[in-house]
Amino acid sequence: MPAVPDEPIVSGELPAEAAGRPGAPLAELRHVSKRFGQGAVGAVDVTLGFPAGRMVALFGPSGSGKTTVLHMLGLLLPPDEGEIWLDGRRVDGLAEGASAAVRRRSLGFVFQSFGLVPLLTAEENVTVALRLLNIGGDRAREKARAALEVVDLGRRAGHRPAEMSGGEQQRVALARALVHSPKLLLADEPTGELDTATGAYVLDLLRRTARNGAAVVLATHDPAALEVVDTAYFMRDGTVHEPDRAELELWLTEGEGGLAGG
Ligand SMILES: Nc1ncnc2c1ncn2[C@@H]1O[C@H](COP(=O)(O)OP(=O)(O)O)[C@@H](O)[C@H]1O
Ligand SMILES: [Mg+2]
Repeated sequence: MPAVPDEPIVSGELPAEAAGRPGAPLAELRHVSKRFGQGAVGAVDVTLGFPAGRMVALFGPSGSGKTTVLHMLGLLLPPDEGEIWLDGRRVDGLAEGASAAVRRRSLGFVFQSFGLVPLLTAEENVTVALRLLNIGGDRAREKARAALEVVDLGRRAGHRPAEMSGGEQQRVALARALVHSPKLLLADEPTGELDTATGAYVLDLLRRTARNGAAVVLATHDPAALEVVDTAYFMRDGTVHEPDRAELELWLTEGEGGLAGG
């Protein structure tokens, strides 16, 4: 596995304190709840802050609400109750056009299943994120190439997803998520389909993204993530708490029964 490069993944202006109130989190959920049909609970009165420059993990069993929280933060799913704030601005309840603009400009997404377009090359997949921002031509090509270099895939720019390993595809997905220097990066089980070494590399890239100023939120089952995140929360049945490390380690080593009744 190649070493993680030193150059910033998120280049340009850092968000952080300059953007909003000093010391305020870049993104916040305030008393957010979400229920689905048939009594399924996505989130119950969740209040969480995500600071710029920090990597935060949401651990928890399958069905505990991690994806629901990420989707609400990503303005992909409206909460039933509560508020979502980004960069000093309330962003829940925006009209679809305004909400899409926030997603394109300020957010980056990485999914377990990579989500690349099969017919496009790695470079074209990364360029899509720029096209949506009306950046095209040579400028888009240069930025896409640079982002692929950062994930050490410059030489694979012309390859399609089917010609790449899962780890390579996830690194392309990361390049796509980072090419526009998002303020908030949302990663949903990004190492779920990767082997240990590749997963560690991806976690390292996420950590570096946070160190370069983005707020990084990771939903995961991966014990390796515990070693790299700044803050770990634990979800169960749509509620969030801050576990102590022993509690988390127990859950991670014993599987989903470790916190039974918690
Ligand atoms: N679109 C949906 N429609 C109905 N129920 C859903 C939907 N999305 C999630 N749920 C339910 O909400 C709960 C939380 O799911 P999810 O956020 O996906 O959890 P996790 O990501 O932790 O596995 C589960 O009970 C799930 O079945
Ligand atoms: Mg999920």
